[in-house]
Amino acid sequence: MDKIVIEADQIFKTYSNGRRELEVLSGIGLNVNSGNIITIMGQSGAGKSTLLNILGTLDKPDKGVVKINNIRVDVLLEDELAELRNKHIGFIFQFHHLLPEFTAQENMLLPAWIKNGKKIPTDWGMELLETVGLTERKDHLPSQLSGGERLRTAVVRALINQPDILLADEPTGNLDIENARKLIDLLLRINRDFGQTIVLTTHNPEVAEIGHVKYELCAGQLRII
Ligand SMILES: Nc1ncnc2c1ncn2[C@@H]1O[C@H](COP(=O)(O)OP(=O)(O)OP(=O)(O)O)[C@@H](O)[C@H]1O
Ligand SMILES: [Mg+2]
Repeated sequence: MDKIVIEADQIFKTYSNGRRELEVLSGIGLNVNSGNIITIMGQSGAGKSTLLNILGTLDKPDKGVVKINNIRVDVLLEDELAELRNKHIGFIFQFHHLLPEFTAQENMLLPAWIKNGKKIPTDWGMELLETVGLTERKDHLPSQLSGGERLRTAVVRALINQPDILLADEPTGNLDIENARKLIDLLLRINRDFGQTIVLTTHNPEVAEIGHVKYELCAGQLRII
């Protein structure tokens, strides 16, 4: 049987704004097999980022259980969670979250430095940099990068530790067609070469096509499309 790397069961999430309550996730169940690409489409506001943050242990559901590599994440302490994330999960955030005072190269290498305790660029880091076409921009601060360059920096940061699981929130959101294709090719390559599991959200049906399993998030529920 395929190994399940992410298991989510009966996930509920409601946001409160003053007196108004908004149920975004209404009992989501999702099993992600090792080595699969999962794509999640859904309208703006459907809850895709919310779900990805919960799967990546950055946010907690109101109800329900998430297991990563068969470990229940709700029973872990904060530093155990941080270690699990650093070792096993790479994130490409919708809004990138680069550290403003570090250059592109430093931002990319940070997870590797945290993991290895050494401030050296790795060959893999340099190769990734070349693949995403950022070698010439590596010494720029985030404020000196275009939106697409920031995104590509975030892509390298997410992949630097070769995490088992990559969670990518609209990774092609603000890229032109050529760079979007290159990024998709890179994701397909790491999936094929390293068996990397990928969960990605997108508004783009062409991007969604790369999924081994394709979902739509609608009215708080996931359905296979
Ligand atoms: N911290 C919060 N407090 C209150 N409401 C929130 C909060 N975060 C998100 N929401 C609301 O929850 C809903 C889902 O948000 P989410 O960011 O998960 O949507 P999304 O599917 O990722 O949308 P998009 O495609 O625009 O990125 C939205 O209607 C949003 O306004
Ligand atoms: Mg979103």
